[in-house]
Amino acid sequence: MTARTIGLPAETKDRERRVALTPSAVGSAVRAGHRVLVQAGAGEGAGYQDVDYKQVGAELVPAAEDAWSADLVVKVKEPQRPEYAYFRDDLTLFAYLHLAAEPDLTRALQESGVAAYAFETLEERGGLPLLAPMSEIAGRAAAIVGAAHLAAVGGGSGTLMGGAAGAPAAQVVVLGMGVAGTMAARGAAGLDAVVTGVDVNLQRLYDARMEGTIASSLVSEPDGVAELVSRADLVVGAALVPGRRAPVVVSEEAVVGMRPGSVVVDLAIDQGGCIETARPTTLSEPTYVTHGVVHYCVTNVPGQFPRTASAALSAAVAPKLLLLASDPDDPRLTGAANVLAGELVHPGVVAAFEG
Ligand SMILES: NC(=O)c1ccc[n+]([C@@H]2O[C@H](COP(=O)([O-])OP(=O)(O)OC[C@H]3O[C@@H](n4cnc5c(N)ncnc54)[C@H](O)[C@@H]3O)[C@@H](O)[C@H]2O)c1
Repeated sequence: MTARTIGLPAETKDRERRVALTPSAVGSAVRAGHRVLVQAGAGEGAGYQDVDYKQVGAELVPAAEDAWSADLVVKVKEPQRPEYAYFRDDLTLFAYLHLAAEPDLTRALQESGVAAYAFETLEERGGLPLLAPMSEIAGRAAAIVGAAHLAAVGGGSGTLMGGAAGAPAAQVVVLGMGVAGTMAARGAAGLDAVVTGVDVNLQRLYDARMEGTIASSLVSEPDGVAELVSRADLVVGAALVPGRRAPVVVSEEAVVGMRPGSVVVDLAIDQGGCIETARPTTLSEPTYVTHGVVHYCVTNVPGQFPRTASAALSAAVAPKLLLLASDPDDPRLTGAANVLAGELVHPGVVAAFEG
């Protein structure tokens, strides 16, 4: 096995408090023979102190540039613009990249020659095991934030998810019944809203109905979806085709047809959004109103639950990181490579840029 130097920088995206590796995952990397450079304070937002990393054999380094000097950098979110300065052709990067929605980052990775491996496109047995834990969390969060934004105080219609005796429950539409959509549907159903699932995959809809996660279902086609969302109080966007720009499932015209004060939470915004009027927002300023509809389109929803999210992410990422450190061509990393030696290599990402 080749011993590598692994860098763990602190996250820099707006209000992002996750860390990619917990101290125990760093301990595993150290025991596997790697040097791990942890930027001081990197784990603090998730409740892990520098001393916890030190105890398992990490080397604490004072600045971001020290962590980025490692030959393999692992982090949570896609590099932010000031971090592009650390790119170089002998660097391997392992993180969420979402390149279909990040043309400038894609260009910077290509021009610098970084070997860029994305968590979200790594495939295993038909699933996306490094996206799934964050989709699980973002889906659960979508039900919570969606319900909260329906309150009149934030510009919502003032509809309570579960309704009340003599008043109907909220109508919730979930676009894409994968991991995030299923969790959003479960959350909304748990609050006694009436949930309809939309997907192109009829088996997914069948399963969700049989499991009682959704009350009814609809195949994803524009007219039916427009009619459905015109009656919705909350729409959650979670449709994904791996690597590609998100499919537009709800057109702007359909948003115009929605009731004032209804809410959309577009989780798919990290891939460009599956609701046409969605544009990226931040945890600091999560919403805006377009056509009377409250839009919540935060690209790092799990960042506000850093304790849970860091533990879940690290558990999924750590074994793959060790594979990447020893053999980037290991078949168990299938789909992760996005940019190698200046070339886009993931078919979904290629399609996002070249059509
Ligand atoms: N904003 C955030 O903070 C955040 C966090 C985690 C995940 N996400 C995003 O949530 C999205 C969903 O992730 P996931 O892990 O649930 O994906 P998934 O692959 O588990 O599920 C995606 C679903 O979308 C369906 N789909 C594809 N095309 C469709 C269409 N045209 N209409 C309706 N459904 C369609 C698929 O059949 C599948 O069931 C991704 O974009 C992911 O990156 C966002």
